[in-house]
Amino acid sequence: MDEQIRQLKQLAEPLLRWYDANRRRLPWREEVSAYRTWVSEIMLQQTRVTAVLPYFARFMDAYPTVEALANADTEQLMKLWEGLGYYSRARNLQKAARIVAEQYGGQFPATYEDLIALPGIGDYTAGAILSIAFGQPIPAVDGNVLRVAARITGSRLDVLDGKNRKLFRAWMAEAMSKARPGAYNQALMDLGATVCLPHGEPLCGECPAREFCAARREGCQSELPVRTRKKEKRLEHLTVFVLLREGCVALRRRSEEGLLAGLWEYPHVPGTLDETAAARQLAEWGIMPHRWVKKLAARHEFTHIRWEMTGYILEVQGYGPTEWLWADSGERRKLAVPSAFERFTREITEEERG
Ligand code: ADE
Repeated sequence: MDEQIRQLKQLAEPLLRWYDANRRRLPWREEVSAYRTWVSEIMLQQTRVTAVLPYFARFMDAYPTVEALANADTEQLMKLWEGLGYYSRARNLQKAARIVAEQYGGQFPATYEDLIALPGIGDYTAGAILSIAFGQPIPAVDGNVLRVAARITGSRLDVLDGKNRKLFRAWMAEAMSKARPGAYNQALMDLGATVCLPHGEPLCGECPAREFCAARREGCQSELPVRTRKKEKRLEHLTVFVLLREGCVALRRRSEEGLLAGLWEYPHVPGTLDETAAARQLAEWGIMPHRWVKKLAARHEFTHIRWEMTGYILEVQGYGPTEWLWADSGERRKLAVPSAFERFTREITEEERG
């Protein structure tokens, strides 16, 4: 047997005992279904538990079943998702819900092959659904679990390398509890989130693996897991125009493809425009500045791109391109403007309050 599997096998029993005493009470744990597990796991990708909680509650109120989600108004769904980011997750949720409703009679498939074929469901989410909702002994290995496993085994394999992640998954598949797979996987998530912390000192004194953790023994917790430096994010400069006219703000819809697909945004152009160049751009759109209210800077980080934004807030006359929508506050409440533009959205609210 691999040495790593032997090391990890020591974990199941103390980990489950620790989980039974310390587990976090979370709404998707108190009432379990494949639908609730799926929605919570998708929300929890890239997002912290405390941020997810109110969204999960609103989501379950609005769409209590997979059929309700399949039939949801997409605009309303995007609005509900506003602030969580990574909107393709919400679009994929609805695409997958339609497939489950139409091809599986509303019952989630209980096999790895069928689940992984659904939009937005990858190896981790398939493992989470199968273990938590269906009790199958399939590992669910995310960044938290890789960190715990790398530290317990003392492995210096680069966890950003897909080949190595596959190897870790194979170890976990061997070493995990076959009696309580759902509890085991969620215990690992909790351990990673509350004890085996990524930044700063992990709380090794409270850890159920403290007696046999290789990283603790060697004092190298902070060096593990090994992640070779990722590529620099691509930097993009943008000039954003917040155009106010008679209580309305100009919005336009993003393309149906790519980053933030189909969401609403303030008109913007590439590059950093000074006032003269900005005025020229406005003239090109057929917009007459009436009052320059404010210039401000904002930034936003996506997974692979960083936006450095210069924003102009203006009161204007004119209508601009026909595809623009001049939305009053009532309309804006129904349209999803991504949090990348949050800084500007906030200014509008303040401007309107006077
Ligand atoms: N992070 C990812 N999945 C989770 C879950 N089911 N419970 C708590 N944290 C999580």
